[in-house]
Amino acid sequence: MILPIYLYGQPVLRKVAEDITPDYPQLKELIENMFETMYNAEGIGLAAPQIGLAIRLVVIDLDALSEDYPEYKDFRRVYINAEVLETSDEKDSMDEGCLSLPGIHEKVTRPTRIHVRYLDENFVEHDEWVEGFLARAMQHEFDHLEGKVFSDHLSPLRRQMNKNKLGNLAKGKVSCAYKTKRVLR
Ligand code: NI
Repeated sequence: MILPIYLYGQPVLRKVAEDITPDYPQLKELIENMFETMYNAEGIGLAAPQIGLAIRLVVIDLDALSEDYPEYKDFRRVYINAEVLETSDEKDSMDEGCLSLPGIHEKVTRPTRIHVRYLDENFVEHDEWVEGFLARAMQHEFDHLEGKVFSDHLSPLRRQMNKNKLGNLAKGKVSCAYKTKRVLR
């Protein structure tokens, strides 16, 4: 089932998300719905707050990038209760967008490597260092679990340049190809 994606301006995107346990109601179905919602919107990652749930659940599928990054062929993952434990001093910049901020694309500077701990869909714990595009995707998605969105990382100048777009988004004034939940003011 395709779920509506909550847009910038929705309070749930500013909440710190809570851990979940294996008995979370209909978790399997929820995960499938998140993947379906993400594919429908042509995204590569989706965090539960973006479908209105303040829980620490993220899905990522990087297969769409596998032409440029062969290591991501069939790379489809679920991250539960994820946290970033350490980050590298080395950083780089890359263009980012977000299904909750349609129409905005900006360069974001982030650490190139991160040490993460999370549970997979079987609640098996993983503790690993991650790099490359995956490290970026994870940081973007895990930010959503802390109530942050990528525009929070922009310089005051770039934020000023996007002020109208962000303002319109927060008022629900945006056209979008997928189903959304927006604040109408
Ligand atoms: Ni996002």
